[in-house]
Amino acid sequence: MRRILTGDRPTGPLHLGHYVGSLKSRLEFQENSEVFILIADIQALTDNFENPGKVSKNILGVAIDYLSIGLDPKKAVFVVQSQVPEIAELTVLFMNLVSVGRLGQNPTVKTEIKEKGLDKSLPVGFLAYPVSQAADIAIFGANIVPVGQDQLPMIEQTREIVRRFNKLYGKTLIEPKAELAKFPRIPGIDGKNKMSKSLNNAIYLSDSEDIVREKVRKMYTDPKRIRSTDLGRVKDNPVFIYHDAFNRNLREVKDLKARYKKGKVGDVEVKEKLARAINDFLEPIRERREYFSRDKKKVLKILEIGTRKGRKEAAKTLLAVKRAMKINYW
Ligand code: TRP
Repeated sequence: MRRILTGDRPTGPLHLGHYVGSLKSRLEFQENSEVFILIADIQALTDNFENPGKVSKNILGVAIDYLSIGLDPKKAVFVVQSQVPEIAELTVLFMNLVSVGRLGQNPTVKTEIKEKGLDKSLPVGFLAYPVSQAADIAIFGANIVPVGQDQLPMIEQTREIVRRFNKLYGKTLIEPKAELAKFPRIPGIDGKNKMSKSLNNAIYLSDSEDIVREKVRKMYTDPKRIRSTDLGRVKDNPVFIYHDAFNRNLREVKDLKARYKKGKVGDVEVKEKLARAINDFLEPIRERREYFSRDKKKVLKILEIGTRKGRKEAAKTLLAVKRAMKINYW
């Protein structure tokens, strides 16, 4: 059986980029695999520890995003990281198995340190978050971790730590494999190569119809095309990347592309059709959101039950780890 672990840092609402790159595949996984989904609040704190409220207030929001897209807590286990202290324990034990130098070479961490301006005073917790992520993965016994390109170094790090553990203390932990996302990530509405909250270029799953229309209206397209009669470029054009990702009317997309290339359609029409396609896609998501938003207690309960299940699994692994290390004294 495939056991899958995925996770998100709860630092804001989830957007279309999350959907295309990862949430959509989780909907398939929940039908054919065991799935654990970690709301990684402890990891989010490694660069938000001065503002823990930002993290805690997003826990419920992320859970509602999951439920709204159709993730089903009967099929996928939602776990809140901070409420599984076994992960923290395993992190401490893993810390002996990796060098500071190795962590510093992790390309994802390196980039983030620069981007977040942490190079002057680098918290140990931030440098070490890949160790904690290795613990996340190992403790739930996941064999598959679906990830985007930027998370590959985390899985490599996890594999190294697990191999080292198994070599030193006997084969105890599962060495996970990364499964690269099938869908490439989508650009932001500003045409920058990644949709992200911090770049302020995202369309959120929770955006209203009007906001979607407004954001699409302002979207970056082919910068060389001044008039609607100019020949346009479809490739690498965010408007058409989104059409491909969200417009279910394939004939319409084909027709728009053909006319765009020939200078026979205006941006207004292309964008209006895109806004409608995205709003059609979001409609059922909005309906479920409304239902779950009305009953936050129920959502909290779902998290509590999922976390309890996750914790049971974590406790089993931690016991096996302690036995292997001969630190279970009574
Ligand atoms: N680092 C991931 C991110 O930033 C979130 C995450 C935390 C995660 N723990 C995980 C992803 C375990 C996969 C497996 O998106």
